[in-house]
Amino acid sequence: MLRYLRAQGIGIVPEPRGIDSSGREVLAYIEGRDQGAPFIPEILAEDGAERLGRLAARLRAALARYPCPADARWQFAEGPPGPGQAVQHGDLGPWNLLWGSDGLIVGVLDWELTGPASPLYDTGHLAWFTVPLMDEARARARGFPRPPRRLARLNAFARGTGLTVSEVLDAALHAQQEYARRITAGPAEPWATFQKLGFHKNAAADGEWTRMNFRDELA
Ligand SMILES: Nc1ncnc2c1ncn2[C@@H]1O[C@H](COP(=O)(O)OP(=O)(O)OP(=O)(O)O)[C@@H](O)[C@H]1O
Ligand SMILES: [Mg+2]
Repeated sequence: MLRYLRAQGIGIVPEPRGIDSSGREVLAYIEGRDQGAPFIPEILAEDGAERLGRLAARLRAALARYPCPADARWQFAEGPPGPGQAVQHGDLGPWNLLWGSDGLIVGVLDWELTGPASPLYDTGHLAWFTVPLMDEARARARGFPRPPRRLARLNAFARGTGLTVSEVLDAALHAQQEYARRITAGPAEPWATFQKLGFHKNAAADGEWTRMNFRDELA
């Protein structure tokens, strides 16, 4: 799938280099800056929010066309996407992106949770942490040193995706609910640890925050 994305012109995903003698998958190293703590200016800028929206759209379009082999095996699923599904990155957030000195995104890392899901899962998940769709304390802890201008950032992100603000918010709310569901669905790692850390409660609280604060914009 990484090879397919690269062949589609999405060269910012790691190049697979095969399996080593210990059975580990090897990927080419991508040089870049991470999100920083607090976030680097590239992410805090409204331009950055739009750029992240564009990234979600590019991945969404390419992954929707991925000719998934019938015997595909993912970490938490088997087989190709079902009706109404598409393969999704599964953890598309600022913590899995690398940035270049020119302010552009140069790497999309960590395809370990990839698998079939709603075709807008990645878009909604990235919107969740880019706008961000969570309260002030959580936003600060996630990288925003000042109260973010959420409405402007939401509009910029939506512009980048080519979707309406309502579509982005619906996708984000779905991602918040789906992420909480995944954590509580089974005993497998990393979900068991995430549950101990209360990540499902954060996701549920963020979903509630999104519903309360964008009541009129949600479908
Ligand atoms: N610079 C890089 N170039 C290419 N692939 C990378 C790079 N850094 C990480 N990866 C890939 O992404 C995987 C996950 O790494 P990552 O740094 O996202 O760790 P993590 O534990 O998920 O941390 P985080 O919670 O910050 O995302 C690695 O196993 C590796 O395959
Ligand atoms: Mg990661």
